[in-house]
Amino acid sequence: MSESIASPFAAPSNTNHQQVNIDLGDRSYPIEITVRGLENLCQHAALPSAASAFIVSNNVVWPLYGAALVAALQQRYAKVYSVQLPDGEEHKNWQTLNLIFDALLRHGCDRKTVLFALGGGVIGDMTGFAAACYMRGVPFVQVPTTLLAQVDSSVGGKTGINHPLGKNMIGAFYQPRLVVCDLATLDTLPERELSAGLAEVIKYGPIADMEFMAWQEASMDDLRARDRTALAHAVRRSCEIKAWVVGQDERESGLRAILNFGHTFGHAIEAGMGYGVWLHGEAVGAGMVMAAELSLRMGLVDEKFVLRLRNLIQRAGLPVKAPVLDPSDNAGRYLELMRVDKKAESGEIRFVLIDGPGKAVLRSAPDALVREVIDACW
Ligand code: NAD
Ligand code: GLY
Repeated sequence: MSESIASPFAAPSNTNHQQVNIDLGDRSYPIEITVRGLENLCQHAALPSAASAFIVSNNVVWPLYGAALVAALQQRYAKVYSVQLPDGEEHKNWQTLNLIFDALLRHGCDRKTVLFALGGGVIGDMTGFAAACYMRGVPFVQVPTTLLAQVDSSVGGKTGINHPLGKNMIGAFYQPRLVVCDLATLDTLPERELSAGLAEVIKYGPIADMEFMAWQEASMDDLRARDRTALAHAVRRSCEIKAWVVGQDERESGLRAILNFGHTFGHAIEAGMGYGVWLHGEAVGAGMVMAAELSLRMGLVDEKFVLRLRNLIQRAGLPVKAPVLDPSDNAGRYLELMRVDKKAESGEIRFVLIDGPGKAVLRSAPDALVREVIDACW
């Protein structure tokens, strides 16, 4: 399903400023990867013009970066409003989304008001969904402050919230006008969150670019030590691969599903454990091991590849064993949760599998094999 992409190693990484473009016709936009980009945000040509800006953040990120973003936006917008949401995946729901609409209406925000998502993937997904819905659509800008959001969630226009019965089940495809990844914001990220972000970096190797996987194997210690040059390269290459995929299949009619490698098992872990108990990236880490094991049992990869991937995930500080969701019928509970996955068709679960290193396919698998994997992975 995937094809090779031009090598990442041709152009050197400039830590201070890099740009990747998402090509979607008149909805194209740049991803800026910079240091201190947050403070210089008002200089971007892609920033929509309007009288007012509205920042959505949470009670953890706002105290760290809220003032800097307000100061930057005040150079461009006459009025800058904000709302702080409660922090955490468990708040990615209707009630919290409504807090955004309440504040937008209270401040008299109109159709031109530009929404800014300041935070990780939870804030980005909810702000994007709010932007898609408010007055049937207002412009929005992503200012991702976690590694996970910089390499994945802020790019590509998937927005939404969770439902108690399924992860990210309510949402819309709605593209931002600009994404600004400020690498300096990663300095304050807790170590567990950094590791969670590395899960989404790791996924790009097996599905599309084994050279990138080899680079990660050589650079994992630097990445965990937050070496700026290593992080800049990881963010840029991840965004390049995602841009290439999204540019061809914005609404996931086929190819884009490869970006969900590890997510079918991972989403079951998140929903089954209760949102927020396992971080999204942690669930994806264990989920990629399970998907690789399933690929092995389907005869698509060899054991050496599975061990190599498991080792990289472990070195990133991520779990490689899945949690038990139901001691009386663990595999049954996983299967039940996975049937709610968006890739499922007529109740048949479809998995992103590795079809030889660097290439992904979307396939269904016999329940017996899936049960075997679940039983083997904890
Ligand atoms: P998150 O948004 O919950 O952020 C993780 C934690 O870090 C939070 O406590 C947050 O407040 C804190 N934080 C954020 N930036 C910080 C900083 N610079 N310094 C200190 N603390 C900081 O989680 P996440 O991992 O960023 O995102 C996970 C979410 O993204 C999930 O809901 C997942 O479904 C979604 N996601 C969406 C897509 C997509 O394409 N839209 C892709 C992948 C994941
Ligand atoms: N994170 C998966 C996607 O954007 O499609």
